[in-house]
Amino acid sequence: MEKKRIPLVAGNWKMYKTIAEARQLVPDLVAGLDPIAGVEKAICPPFTALLPVKALLEGSSIHLGAQNMHWEDSGAYTGEISPRMVAELCTYVIIGHSERRAYFGETDETVNKKVKSAYTAGLIPILCVGETLQENEAGKTGEVVERQIKKGLLDVRLTPEKDGSIPLVIAYEPVWAIGTGRAASGEDANTVVSKYIRPSLAQLFGLAVAQSVRVLYGGSVKASNASEFFNQPEIDGALVGGASLKADEFIAIVKYAVLP
Ligand code: 13P
Repeated sequence: MEKKRIPLVAGNWKMYKTIAEARQLVPDLVAGLDPIAGVEKAICPPFTALLPVKALLEGSSIHLGAQNMHWEDSGAYTGEISPRMVAELCTYVIIGHSERRAYFGETDETVNKKVKSAYTAGLIPILCVGETLQENEAGKTGEVVERQIKKGLLDVRLTPEKDGSIPLVIAYEPVWAIGTGRAASGEDANTVVSKYIRPSLAQLFGLAVAQSVRVLYGGSVKASNASEFFNQPEIDGALVGGASLKADEFIAIVKYAVLP
């Protein structure tokens, strides 16, 4: 089946890279990634590095994303960053990453507030969903992913961009595959997308929108297994953690995502 969606490969740096380290990495990324056409590229550094990285990306085709944010525009929320602050710098914002759900108390309800406030601020959310190992082994993958999509996107209104694209990205990241070196198989990930993720999107937004939303795979993606995911009809790119911290590796992954 022909893919009409433009693939996206995004690097989630997590809590890695000081400003000094980012300044070393980004010029190599720009040199390697900028000439690659046919795939959209994004990097999501920690908050402290966003401004200097933005300056280094100036004039390149690489987008910037944040890894989290609060849902309120402003207020007495010590230590938080607001959607308006993120929107001054970024195109994308990762929302509901499993590490935030597991370690920082994020729920489907807070994820939903963040998704809505991302749209108010003009940001494109990369909404992360995925089951834990326990849920996977209990056969609950579909149930979990459907709940995360439906509650995370409750009462969200999607307005197509001027070019007709839908400003929503879903990242299917099985928790057991993150940082473990044990990726899902391309086929299994594709099945989760086709059987649970797109049908949930279709229930919320209709079939046409569900077919236009880009769905990425994340979890131990590296250059040696990337094409297994990109060759799947329902997978439109990757959200890459560890392998996005090495220029050569990330550039190689992005090259595999180019549509033939
Ligand atoms: P790894 O690629 O390091 O497994 O991390 C995936 C991830 O969590 C991306 O958001």
